[in-house]
Amino acid sequence: MPNTILVGAQWGDEGKGKIIDVLTEGADIVVRTQGGNNAGHTVYVGKKKYVLHLIPSGMLRKGKICVIGNGVVIDPIGLLSEINGLKDLGVKINGRLMVSETAHVVLPYHRELDAQREILKGKNKIGTTKRGIGPAYGDKAARTGLRMVDLMNPERFEVLLRMRIKENNEILRALGAKGLSFKKVHETYRAAADALRPYVENTVVLLHEAHRLGASILFEGAQGTYLDIDHGTYPFVTSSNTTSGGACTGSGMPPNRMDRVVGVMKAYTTRVGEGPLPTEDAQISDMLHGMGREFGATTGRARRCGWFDAVATRNATMVNGIDELAVTNLDGLDQLDKIKVCGGYRCGGKVLDYVPNDIEAFSSCEPIYMEFPGWRVSTEKARTWKQLPLNARKYLKAVAEMACAELSIVSVGPAREQTIQL
Ligand code: GDP
Ligand code: IMO
Ligand code: MG
Repeated sequence: MPNTILVGAQWGDEGKGKIIDVLTEGADIVVRTQGGNNAGHTVYVGKKKYVLHLIPSGMLRKGKICVIGNGVVIDPIGLLSEINGLKDLGVKINGRLMVSETAHVVLPYHRELDAQREILKGKNKIGTTKRGIGPAYGDKAARTGLRMVDLMNPERFEVLLRMRIKENNEILRALGAKGLSFKKVHETYRAAADALRPYVENTVVLLHEAHRLGASILFEGAQGTYLDIDHGTYPFVTSSNTTSGGACTGSGMPPNRMDRVVGVMKAYTTRVGEGPLPTEDAQISDMLHGMGREFGATTGRARRCGWFDAVATRNATMVNGIDELAVTNLDGLDQLDKIKVCGGYRCGGKVLDYVPNDIEAFSSCEPIYMEFPGWRVSTEKARTWKQLPLNARKYLKAVAEMACAELSIVSVGPAREQTIQL
């Protein structure tokens, strides 16, 4: 398998974890390159459910190497609890997980600032996961962040942490929150540093060496295109580049070493958190929530649901360079008589076939729908293209054509085997 970048083509939670797990079979190394434990990637192995936040989803396939790249922001306590949780479930981690020494560290003041800033924003809040992601990337850009390499150096860590807690406590108190105790944070993070030490290394050199020896590398995107700090619905976005370019900067593998980009999308649309979602619709939301589906893997929040948005997905194909599409959750549409797809927006008296950058304009866009007949039978047992109902095949073909990418995978359930590879 060539080096593959996998990205979310919508607003996150497209089913990236499941598709990564499927594609890992043919890969040697899986790399996370951005985001942090705001991500929640669900993988089923048999009946066992795993939700991965920082560790690449490839960890659930025996013998595969997993890398947390330099572009990720790492909450050491979160990472340790994930490592221990997987170990308890019988997953072998040692010798298979490598963590970049230049990845930035998420510290308790980042989480506290994230929460306080959301409170301050009131009704304009972003609806973050409160994992400290924005403040941690903010420190990275401001050059006031601590990296894993700093966490591994006890003397330097102590000096830097003392300085950073002093400054951040001033900010927290000004926001009406309590300051943090240096002693407590220091103790906890020093212990975490020692536990994580065996995993920390120069992952850029490791990846290049593996590439030179012919390894096939899978880059696991987190979040989705419309949560991208540059190409998303700013300011209702996360703080990293979730689009394909982020895989290069977040791993140190250059663009000319990448062979293909796979975009993952649901057969409909979901979003968790605030911000525009033109195709949001009560009928499909109620139906999916009624089926017990579409509750967040990280925060448990009910996801907002809507129809498939071909305009947004076409734009995602463009900015990510998506070659192939993996469509998940087709089975979520099984019960419907009619399925709507947004093919354009009506906005300020004009018809648009692109996503407007102005957030107010995008929020006021009215979708222009076309309708497809449903299939009204379960697709969950389909294992080949031909076993899918004709109307489902027509829907998928139309959706891929509108998204301007080749359909390569269809997922009809959360399990590994509920996957059709074309
Ligand atoms: P990710 O963040 O992109 O990895 O996606 P999440 O794991 O947050 O959310 C996707 C949800 O859809 C999870 O509960 C998956 O188990 C589930 N899922 C993925 N593909 C399918 C599918 O084809 N059908 C059904 N029913 N569930 C799916
Ligand atoms: P995966 O990888 C869906 C959303 C939050 C919020 C916004 C900013 O599982 O697809 P943040 O905590 O990052 O500052 O929150 O981004 N968000 C996600 N939504 N899936 C995710 O990850 C998300 N990670 C962040 O809900 O709207
Ligand atoms: Mg998720």
